[in-house]
Amino acid sequence: MSARVVVLVSGGGSNLEALIDAARVEGYGARIVAVGADRDCGGLELAAAAGIPTFVTRVGDAADRAEWDRSLTARVAAFNPDLVISAGFLKLVGAEFLAEFGGRFLNTHNTLLPAFPGIHGPRDALEYGVKLTGATLFIVDAGIDTGVIVAQVAVPVADDDTVETLTERIKVAERAQLVDHLGRLCRDGWRIEGRRVVLGAG
Ligand code: GRF
Repeated sequence: MSARVVVLVSGGGSNLEALIDAARVEGYGARIVAVGADRDCGGLELAAAAGIPTFVTRVGDAADRAEWDRSLTARVAAFNPDLVISAGFLKLVGAEFLAEFGGRFLNTHNTLLPAFPGIHGPRDALEYGVKLTGATLFIVDAGIDTGVIVAQVAVPVADDDTVETLTERIKVAERAQLVDHLGRLCRDGWRIEGRRVVLGAG
């Protein structure tokens, strides 16, 4: 039986698109039951075009951040997911969301954590002058990009890279990693031991 997955997005949705394609393949192990966003974005359009239910929970529509977090938690919970994926979702969730989905809420970040957390990862990596960066899939905790790491992939930085070219090179590796590991997590299970995620140990 396929795991039920809700994907949260804020942007163009290239990671989401890769997941939608993967989930079409029999035996992948996951099916996307809904896509949520905090704003209108390309990711929502991709989901709608694929016939996947969507919802938008805007911070500006809530009285405060805690109310937004409660609303988001309820919207996601209504789809009864086994796993929730943040694929370019540009908001930090709050305590209520983590109480409900902690340990099964994954995020993909476009650097090799713990280097360069936050929303300008590729820019910060480029400015620092690293020769290798990459993408990190991790289980979200209350910190900013501090959760236990599921997988990482390295991507070289070219001497003539701009933020745009580096961001795009990272995205290619990031998508493949996300698709591969989400499938493995769903098919084989996992266990968290301290700061390690042990795959195939469900
Ligand atoms: C990803 O690279 C993610 O790491 C970053 O935003 C990007 C989302 O891209 N936080 P997309 O919306 O999946 O195309």
